[in-house]
Amino acid sequence: MLWFFQFFLSLTLLLPTLLAQTVSSNDCASSVHVLLARGEGTGDDLNVLSTVQGLVLQQIPGSTVLGLPYDHGNSDKEAAAYNGSLLFQQYVQQYAASCPNSKIALLGYSLGAVALMDGICGTGSIGIYDYVAPLDPKYADYVIGIFTYGDETYAPFQPWNVGNCTIGAGIFPRLNSGACYPFQASLQSYCDYGDNQCCSPLPLDDNAAHHTYVEKYNQDVVNFIISRLG
Ligand SMILES: *[C@@H]1O[C@H](CO)[C@@H](O)[C@H](O)[C@H]1NC(C)=O
Ligand SMILES: *[C@@H]1O[C@H](CO)[C@@H](O)[C@H](O)[C@H]1NC(C)=O
Repeated sequence: MLWFFQFFLSLTLLLPTLLAQTVSSNDCASSVHVLLARGEGTGDDLNVLSTVQGLVLQQIPGSTVLGLPYDHGNSDKEAAAYNGSLLFQQYVQQYAASCPNSKIALLGYSLGAVALMDGICGTGSIGIYDYVAPLDPKYADYVIGIFTYGDETYAPFQPWNVGNCTIGAGIFPRLNSGACYPFQASLQSYCDYGDNQCCSPLPLDDNAAHHTYVEKYNQDVVNFIISRLG
C-alpha cells in the first residue's frame, strides 16, 4: 500500500515537468517550435530574448516560441547550466514525440548558451560541470537550428562559428566537439571579438560585445530558420 502511495505521489510531482512539452496535436507548430534560453538572472524566462520571440512570430507563419523555464536565477551557475542542459534534452525529446511533423529550433544566450551546447554535445570542457550525455543524433531529423550568443564553451576554428571572434576562446572552452557534428548543419555559434566570455582574453573593453548579439544577429537567426524550413 505504501509503495503505491509513494508511486502515486512521485507521479504527481513529476507531472508538470513531464507534460511541459507534451502538447496535443492541435497545438503543434505547423512550421517550427523555438525554445529560447536566456542568460543568468532572475525574472521571466525570456528577458532580452523577447526580441527574438517577436521576430519569429512575426516572420514565420505557424511558429510557436517558448522561453525555457530553466533555473537561470540560481547563483550556482554550474547547477543552472546543468539544469538547462537536461531541460533542453527533455523538451526536445518530448516535443518531437508529440509533434513529429514540426521542426524545432533552439537558441541560448550566455549561460543559456552553455546549457544548450552541453545539452546537444554533452559536457566537454575541463572538469567543472556535472556530466551531461550528448543528445541522441536521431534528433537531428527534428532540430533545424541551434544558435548560441556568447557561449562560454566556445572553441576557435569550429565550422559553426560565426561572428568576428577568430582566435579567442570561451572561458570554459569545449575540448572535444565530436558529439556536436551530427547537428553541424543546424549549428551557428555567434561570438564577437570584445566578448570576454566567449572570446577571451582580449580586449578588455568591459565585455561590451557580450551585449550586442540581440541587435546584431536576431534577424540572421530568423533568416537561417526560414532557409532551413524551405
Ligand atoms: C530544473 O530547475 C527547475 C526550476 O528550478 C526545476 O523545476 C527542475 O526540477 C530542475 N530539473 C532538473 C533536471 O534539475
Ligand atoms: C566585432 O564585433 C564587435 C561587436 O559588434 C564590434 O564592436 C567590433 O568592432 C568587431 N570587430 C571587428 C574586428 O570587426
